[in-house]
Amino acid sequence: MGMNYFHQLCCRSSLWERASATRIVPWALDGVELGDRALEVGPGYGANVGTLRGRAGALTGLEIDGGLAARLRERQAGRMRVIEGDGTAMPLSDKEFDSVVCFTMLHHVPSPVQQDELFAEAFRVLSPQGVFAGSDGLDRLAFRLMHIGDTCVPVPPVTLSDRLSRVGFRDVEIETGATMFRFRARRP
Ligand SMILES: C[S@@+](CC[C@H](N)C(=O)[O-])C[C@H]1O[C@@H](n2cnc3c(N)ncnc32)[C@H](O)[C@@H]1O
Repeated sequence: MGMNYFHQLCCRSSLWERASATRIVPWALDGVELGDRALEVGPGYGANVGTLRGRAGALTGLEIDGGLAARLRERQAGRMRVIEGDGTAMPLSDKEFDSVVCFTMLHHVPSPVQQDELFAEAFRVLSPQGVFAGSDGLDRLAFRLMHIGDTCVPVPPVTLSDRLSRVGFRDVEIETGATMFRFRARRP
């Protein structure tokens, strides 16, 4: 986990917030219904909160970084529920959500095994017919450079369909763009 200083500066900037809210989230969630209860894993500085709140009944954020969780709780008081915790071992009940989403965070989970644990946890907390969706960066030089001194374990999109199916997801769809991929899958 962890972000280098450049990356921290970038992620908290209004430029990033605008790019994520207007380009990343709408593309990643195009055609996806979030339903009444949505969970965002790794909300960070909260760049996506406004967009997600417009698309879901209620929003919960699960953030591993205690400082970021506290900041978000303070700034988004009354707008979302913020829980400090790990997406690979979610302190949440089974079948609690209609949707689980994450954006630009999977590469911060330090190993494929832990990423698969996160996928299994997303499956567990989803109600039947619930959707897991999101996006992350492709393994490119610029992406690696941004993460020097930082955790960076990009998810190869070609492996993702099998990895999501293995933990139980169905109707898996992966699409690869120029710099990012998006995914969506359903709990049967
Ligand atoms: C690059 S930031 C992206 C933040 C936000 N999703 C966005 O799009 O702006 C990655 C975030 O994921 C969080 N994170 C990393 N590993 C996590 C885990 N295992 N569980 C929950 N959050 C995690 C980090 O603390 C950080 O806030």
